[in-house]
Amino acid sequence: MFRPLYFSLLLLATAGAQADTTRIAFGSCIHQDKPAPILDAVVARQPDAFVLLGDNVYGDTTDMKELQRKYQKLGAKPGYQALKKAAPVYAIWDDHDYGQNDAGKEYPQKAASKRIMLDFFEEPTDSPRRSRNDGNYASYWIEDNGHFIHLILPDLRWNRDALSKESTDDLIPGLKPANSGPYAATQGRTMLGETQWQWLEQELLKPADLTIIGSSIQLLPEFTGWESWANFPDDRSRLIQFIENNRIADVVFISGDTHWGEVSRTFVNHPQPLWEVTSSGLTEEWKEISPNRHRLGEGFSQVNFGELDINWAAGEVGLSLFDVSGQPLEQYTMILSER
Ligand SMILES: [Fe+2]
Repeated sequence: MFRPLYFSLLLLATAGAQADTTRIAFGSCIHQDKPAPILDAVVARQPDAFVLLGDNVYGDTTDMKELQRKYQKLGAKPGYQALKKAAPVYAIWDDHDYGQNDAGKEYPQKAASKRIMLDFFEEPTDSPRRSRNDGNYASYWIEDNGHFIHLILPDLRWNRDALSKESTDDLIPGLKPANSGPYAATQGRTMLGETQWQWLEQELLKPADLTIIGSSIQLLPEFTGWESWANFPDDRSRLIQFIENNRIADVVFISGDTHWGEVSRTFVNHPQPLWEVTSSGLTEEWKEISPNRHRLGEGFSQVNFGELDINWAAGEVGLSLFDVSGQPLEQYTMILSER
């Protein structure tokens, strides 16, 4: 049958608009006193959701009025207002927005800081996230076109045991002390605490089309100089082994904190490799990129944001980092399991 050209073009245009894809963008480390032009680039990518992975303000205070003022500065940024209009924003905290550099369970204002954060991000008043009294952890379901994405946000601050200091004798050879930080790995300590662990394991067992673990600090890299899961080897191996032992498919880690961006991948006792996209920061930069034997390609010192582009029909997830103008820095492809 003869079909006029304009009709075919119309069909093509419709198919493009309804492509079976979901786009989750994310970033971390945004200083309330600095311009954040990168947020315009995020908005231009039209994500379906945005995840802030911590250091969402540089609070660094026990004065809750000051913390509140800093959140107000974030909220007043035109880029942030545009982002909020464009996509739902999900958030977990890291140390600076929790209230103090590299802080753990000893931070005295955690309950008040949590309230201020959840008010800022408009967490519903009846949310279990508000009522639980042992942390700020949460999980969300992002539903798009019949696909269910499980976003899990553990709280790595509220219950965190002390970090142990590394002696300068233990520094990795060839690294200046300033590149390698003051911390070491210690057995028998935890970031999550047992109650949160039980919750996390139950969340991971819930079937999802894709499970995203949003971690404020890096999980796969094994370098311990700066804060990372590697400083808490019991937590790190418990999580990886839980994923392995329960054959949990289609899990991806996203993380922040570092002030550089990179993609990591490990092959473990699991049908799929484990992937982690670290995006940091939205305003913060750091030139001295730490060693990471799981890094693919290079690390990026300039400001960046990350993206998971899920192509449901192809069964693939694009894992990407973008620069301040929305230009791609690198991209990898994660293959989803057969269903
Ligand atoms: Fe930061």
